[in-house]
Amino acid sequence: AIRKIIAREILDSRGNPTVEVDIFTDKGFGRAAVPSGASTGTHEALEMRDGDKSRFMGKGVLKAVENVGKISSTLIGMDVRKQREIDMLMLEMDGTDNKSNLGANAILGVSMAVAKAAADSLNVPLYRYLGGSNSFSLPVPTLNVLNGGKHAGNDLAIQEFMIQPVGAETFKEAIQMGAETYHALGKYLQESYGASSANVGFEGGYAPKMEKTTEAMDALMIAIDRAGYSEEDIKIGLDAAASEFFDGENYKLDGEVMTPEELTAFYIELVNNYPILSIEDPFHEESFEDFENLTGELWETIIVGDDLFVTNPERIAKGIECGAANGLLLKVNQIGTLSEAIDAATLATRNGFSLFVSHRSAETEDTTIADLAVALGADMIKTGAPARGERTAKYNQLLRIEEELGDAAEYVRL
Ligand code: PGA
Ligand code: ZN
Repeated sequence: AIRKIIAREILDSRGNPTVEVDIFTDKGFGRAAVPSGASTGTHEALEMRDGDKSRFMGKGVLKAVENVGKISSTLIGMDVRKQREIDMLMLEMDGTDNKSNLGANAILGVSMAVAKAAADSLNVPLYRYLGGSNSFSLPVPTLNVLNGGKHAGNDLAIQEFMIQPVGAETFKEAIQMGAETYHALGKYLQESYGASSANVGFEGGYAPKMEKTTEAMDALMIAIDRAGYSEEDIKIGLDAAASEFFDGENYKLDGEVMTPEELTAFYIELVNNYPILSIEDPFHEESFEDFENLTGELWETIIVGDDLFVTNPERIAKGIECGAANGLLLKVNQIGTLSEAIDAATLATRNGFSLFVSHRSAETEDTTIADLAVALGADMIKTGAPARGERTAKYNQLLRIEEELGDAAEYVRL
């Protein structure tokens, strides 16, 4: 049973406060910390900030910490293994659609810490607790090696340029391929754009002074080649995060103003010229129709909804109905409980979607999403560059899980 719950304000990787929760049971302990986005979707659950300008520029989370206290008085004495009941109880306590009463950051901190405390009490790894005895598959890491958009101080409109080592035999090999390519890219950028071009953005990817999408794509291709890999070994994933360069009518990128039709043609051309496996948020977050068109045109490419779906089963259901995408980006803090995030994943994968479990641009040392990706049998995990502690924490956890699974481990084949 749950004996004690403690919450505190800690720092995330952007230097802003976030919520950490500790849960003690008779037999176990669980600790979880909540991530935070920069290019957040309008329909995400509410991240509660104090707004008190005298602390952390208003970004304090003491109210959310206090709300964990309120939640805690209800949960003390409950069986920590009752994840769904606990999550639903918190939804009830909150009583709003977007968790604005207690804050999704308060609720999620508890939800994840409950799962970890339960796994610890039962003495099983978190991935097996969440996914069952048949959790054996390791996701393809989609490594964000070059940053633009809101995550970097350059002129690239597209937010993320990711490498996907699909040709690896194991997760461990995939990480090696990714790290080698990351370093080859850093070296190439420094040679061609000067020393400062290897400075990094929010997710550890390089943030060179570039303006054009194709410039970034060409740099990636050169890096993959220099690292000794081919187009079969390593694919490319993009996250346009297009809401960020949409002006209400058109899209501003690469020094041009594009209509949705022109942007569609732009993506098709990119897919024809580069080994692109996935494109996330190619259009703004309400544009189900433009998504649908592109998904129809590029049926061999995974079109992923992030801001479009915000890990929300209702929005995902709408997307399934109109064929707006064939991939789901799953971010636990967009929805606010582990149970609802798992519901979102189930809904999407039952309808043939690829599943990408994802971090946020501000992260902590918490590794819950690594275990969640294995538990859900996710196709990919997106958790930044193969560098920076808050990013490598997740990749390193997956290395441990693969080791623990031993011969039973299987690297996802896409
Ligand atoms: P965010 O970016 O965490 O800043 O929202 C990640 C993403 O868009 O996938
Ligand atoms: Zn995204």
